Amino acid sequence: MYPEISKLIRKELLALEPYHVPFHPGVVKLDANENTYDFPPEVWDDIVRAVDGQTFGRYPDPTAADLRAALAGYTGVAPEQISVGNGSDELIQNLMLTFATGGKVVIATPTFGMYAVHATIAGATPVPLPRGPDFSVDPEAVIAAAGQPGVRVVILCSPNNPTGNTIPLEVTRRILEGTRAVVVVDEAYYEFCGETAVPLLADYPHLVLLRTFSKAFGLAGLRVGYMLAGKEVTEAVGRVKQPFNVNAFSQLAAARLLKWRPVFAERIRKICLSRDELLAAMQGVPGVTVYPSRGNFLLFRTALPARTVYEGLLKRGVLVRILDGPDLPGCLRVSVGQPGENAQFLKALAETMASGASAG
Ligand SMILES: Cc1ncc(COP(=O)(O)O)c(C=O)c1O
Repeated sequence: MYPEISKLIRKELLALEPYHVPFHPGVVKLDANENTYDFPPEVWDDIVRAVDGQTFGRYPDPTAADLRAALAGYTGVAPEQISVGNGSDELIQNLMLTFATGGKVVIATPTFGMYAVHATIAGATPVPLPRGPDFSVDPEAVIAAAGQPGVRVVILCSPNNPTGNTIPLEVTRRILEGTRAVVVVDEAYYEFCGETAVPLLADYPHLVLLRTFSKAFGLAGLRVGYMLAGKEVTEAVGRVKQPFNVNAFSQLAAARLLKWRPVFAERIRKICLSRDELLAAMQGVPGVTVYPSRGNFLLFRTALPARTVYEGLLKRGVLVRILDGPDLPGCLRVSVGQPGENAQFLKALAETMASGASAG
């Protein structure tokens, strides 16, 4: 008699749905907040030249020393306070494993879904803390929630995915003053807004910042994220890190890419311009409410059911993200693409809203 596998699985995992990525070849893909500009050919040539002669027969540098040195130059933070991960997703998981297992994690919601997933996988309990009606974070509410027994980690995201707003530095400072838990600020979209909590790192040993190469730097496929924190937190998270977590090619490519920041800065500027144009154009589509954003994406609510809009857009060749959960009813999120992609999305949205309205 074989064992029943379902009885062996940790019970908190039974309710966890595996992460699902919809795959629709040939559509305009505006669902994952990637950088839709082609990777700059001159940067690619530079990476290829750097790879030439490397064999990859050896394990990668477990300390990612070259990449961390390059990141120190970029962020102004000392290399000893920088760790790199296989995407910032891995760092979120490692933070949970280091601090949260068996405890609670306060998450300012609505936000990126993977915080709760990684907390659950690590055997911690996610505690959602709803943001205000304008999606702002009330520091006193966070401090009160973080003061509950068992809370080890607080997660904030700025600019927040999917609501697009940032958390003012003074709010973050107040939260750090009032809480004894580890406070994580995910700055995955930092480059699109230029606001960072880096200046607070020197004063607060329980502050952790997360960043990624997946968004502004267009490197989502190579999976490189990084963490900025005090030496104690960095050392502690280093204990759960897999030794060879970031592969040699990704380390090299990410470090090389940082030499080409002006090329990316120009694209980031274009994306921010397109975002503001798209916001204005969406405000003119009947039945659509769109929220301002400091990231490379826009949250919008529709008078038609979100599922109808999602399918109407897909039928017209545009893939967006449907959110529509209990904390964001009737909402979708669109990533800002290149002007042609944005125009296609706008046309599809206007047609979908018009046809849905007439059908109703
Ligand atoms: C807020 C936020 N953090 C982290 C990530 C994951 O980034 P990475 O590709 O570095 O794992 C995302 C991706 O969508 C995100 O939106």
